[in-house]
Amino acid sequence: MRYGYFDDANREYVITRPDTPLPWINYLGMQDYFSLISNTAGGYAFYQDARLRRITRYRYNNVPLDMGGRYIYLRDSASGEFWSPTWMPTRHNAEDYSCRHGLGYSLIGSTYRGIRADVRYFVPLDAPLEIWDLTLENLSRTPRRLSLFSSVEFCLWEALDDATNFQRNLNIGEVEVEGSVIYHKTEYRERRNHFAYFACSEPLEGFETQRDAFLGPYRGWENPQAVESDQTTHSLSVGWYPVGVHHLRLTLAPKTKQRVIFLLGYHENLPDWKFSPHDTMNVNKRTLVPIIQKYLDHQEVDQAFEALRSSWDERLGVLQVQTPVEHVDRMVNIWNAYQCMVTFNLSRSASYFESGIGRGMGFRDSNQDLLGFVQMVPDRARQRILDLAATQLENGGAYHQYQPLTKRGNDAVGGNFNDDPAWLVLSTAAYLKETGDWGILEEAVPFENQSGTESPLLEHLQRCIQYTLDRIGPHRLPLIGRADWNDCLNLNTFSDQPGESFQTTTNRDGNVAESVVIAALFIMAAKELAQIMSHLGRVEESDQLQGRAEDMAETIKRYGWDGEWFLRAYDHFGRLIGSKRNKEGQIFIEPQGLCTMAGVGVKEGAAKKALKAVNRHLATDHGILLLQPAYSQYYLHLGEISSYPPGYKENASIFCHTNPWVMIAEAILGNGDQALDYYLRINPSEREAISDLHRCEPYVYAQTIAGIDGPSFGEAKNSWLTGTAAWNFVGITQWILGIRPDYEGLRVEPVLPSGWDGFTAKRKFRGVNYQIDVRRKGRGKKIALTVDGQPIEGTLIPSPSGDKVTVKVTIG
Ligand code: BGC
Ligand code: NOJ
Repeated sequence: MRYGYFDDANREYVITRPDTPLPWINYLGMQDYFSLISNTAGGYAFYQDARLRRITRYRYNNVPLDMGGRYIYLRDSASGEFWSPTWMPTRHNAEDYSCRHGLGYSLIGSTYRGIRADVRYFVPLDAPLEIWDLTLENLSRTPRRLSLFSSVEFCLWEALDDATNFQRNLNIGEVEVEGSVIYHKTEYRERRNHFAYFACSEPLEGFETQRDAFLGPYRGWENPQAVESDQTTHSLSVGWYPVGVHHLRLTLAPKTKQRVIFLLGYHENLPDWKFSPHDTMNVNKRTLVPIIQKYLDHQEVDQAFEALRSSWDERLGVLQVQTPVEHVDRMVNIWNAYQCMVTFNLSRSASYFESGIGRGMGFRDSNQDLLGFVQMVPDRARQRILDLAATQLENGGAYHQYQPLTKRGNDAVGGNFNDDPAWLVLSTAAYLKETGDWGILEEAVPFENQSGTESPLLEHLQRCIQYTLDRIGPHRLPLIGRADWNDCLNLNTFSDQPGESFQTTTNRDGNVAESVVIAALFIMAAKELAQIMSHLGRVEESDQLQGRAEDMAETIKRYGWDGEWFLRAYDHFGRLIGSKRNKEGQIFIEPQGLCTMAGVGVKEGAAKKALKAVNRHLATDHGILLLQPAYSQYYLHLGEISSYPPGYKENASIFCHTNPWVMIAEAILGNGDQALDYYLRINPSEREAISDLHRCEPYVYAQTIAGIDGPSFGEAKNSWLTGTAAWNFVGITQWILGIRPDYEGLRVEPVLPSGWDGFTAKRKFRGVNYQIDVRRKGRGKKIALTVDGQPIEGTLIPSPSGDKVTVKVTIG
């Protein structure tokens, strides 16, 4: 069953009934101001950092689901009836409800008793605020007198403190109201130089800023007393729960429209002139007034919206494909790319499954995300690499996570995830391949943000490699530390205390447990750095790195191979994990994909065997499982992985992030059909038809799909902020379609599925437009390229002189 449909021409997903299985959300904002918005206008906003600068409040795990957001109420003065055009929170059965989630905006609207209401929510490109652009239309034959109420609940900035420290927080709330603007200025009197505001384009009948005055005692958002009685009291919040509510009265003649604009924004003042008049506690509004004036203007709003739309034309224009499969085109051309940008912006910080409090920007996560967005925003990718590198420790290791506001490594989470450093090499390699900007390697970057420790980025990369070489275990495989890519394979944790963090507890010395996954990543990273060194003319270092990679490949063949597939790890006691000799957890997906990607056993046939084993033991109709058999109980020596019930999360769900590694591995072995088949099993658009089972949004990937051992096999969870986005984008575009940036130019090397005649693509690469046309001419796999009519050797297109190139590829 479906809850809507794709409108590809408009790049929107249109939800046609509000009661989706879970809130189906969208993100507004690209730079500093961000909002989560659900299909019924639930969600919250923050400035830069979802924990430290939370603008509006949101209660996770609330009932009813998804209560709290950016709500509008309409009240018919004649009947006294009131409703919300976004369905929540009043849940009236309006006609023609629809929510169009687009790229950086959401349009939600419905018709109730002859009143059409449409709200366009978006964040303009160049101001830290969100616009609610409401259009009301009287479709009936009689004039209608309406009351209109807006509502938001302010958060007192620090989201964790806001949710816990009531003895203080219920005393500090402060607001100010001037004209049609409500200012939320809690803590502005002391150390904050920022405040939030909620403006309205129309004169007010009244307002409320005290939540209890608006809702009334023991009432909820579904029937606020002020709305029911059509009375507002002009409450001024001091302490308790500050809210922003505008109260308007309007009369709409038959068949007429009226537009009302609301702005919810964030503003900072210089500390020296925060107040005006100087000797008061009143907010100085001088620099804000022009911003409010600008965005309350209808034309300006329309222009800002158009600018937002065209910014996406440009970003997505970097790669557009036309293939025989609509699910491929729709994801590559629109939604997968969009999701990659959202993971760039937010890493794993704020979604409906990430509270915005616990996790900021992950080191491993953000480096991987970069693989999916670098082509759209190379400048920002560059900065991201430098920011990440600046949190690296002098020993080459990394803070696992940093706060976006401070860009400082988070001590509470710490380091010792021994795979982390390898990802910095892989992301920098992807950046170099996309841009050819070799200068980045000379950028001076500090360690741990300590000034005085600056060294060229290249040295950071060398230390990443050295970090692994300095931590080698008894089988000459890399030591795993706290965990590797799989945060839940905690081989040194040995935690038996409830509530202890699996990721920060270490009860064993860590000198034995080893990871085949880190070994594979090391090979990939060392080979990239070898190529980088060779480009720089540093042949000796390049050869040395290549040698290290080869040694590690030999080690994997010797100690990381189980006979039919690659092993996963050695535990603290030196015992095998991911072996047929285990009772549970005999085979894991990660090393099969990653070792093949690292080239281990590709020539000798081991990789082929491993992928066959994946197909036999792990592949299901809903995607490829992380491991089998699932762990049936908690094992002290394995940690969090065995804490989950079988079929969920790291314990044998379809952990979507890992599936593209197998797709890429299949493509490397030339199996286009198998690669595409795996791709489509987890493709959200392909799964739209089973929305009732899948439950998450059909336009973006989720982190997991419940595995075969779970009672809800096929149900997705943790949508949006997942490395699944970047890796699927890489898997389909670079490996199956084969359009792959390389150090010395663009490579085109498709692994064409047998059912396809071909496909076409447009790719902007280093300032040149490539028009790519791939055709099948026979059953074979031989690839031949012509560039502007001239045949070339191989699949790497030499740097063209002009700004347009036609590439014809024949396969057969
Ligand atoms: C999750 C992992 C995640 C980790 C991050 C665990 O609870 O299962 O997927 O990487 O938390 O801290
Ligand atoms: C989610 C985390 O964000 C990611 O870093 C990790 O690799 C996976 N979970 C697997 O545990």
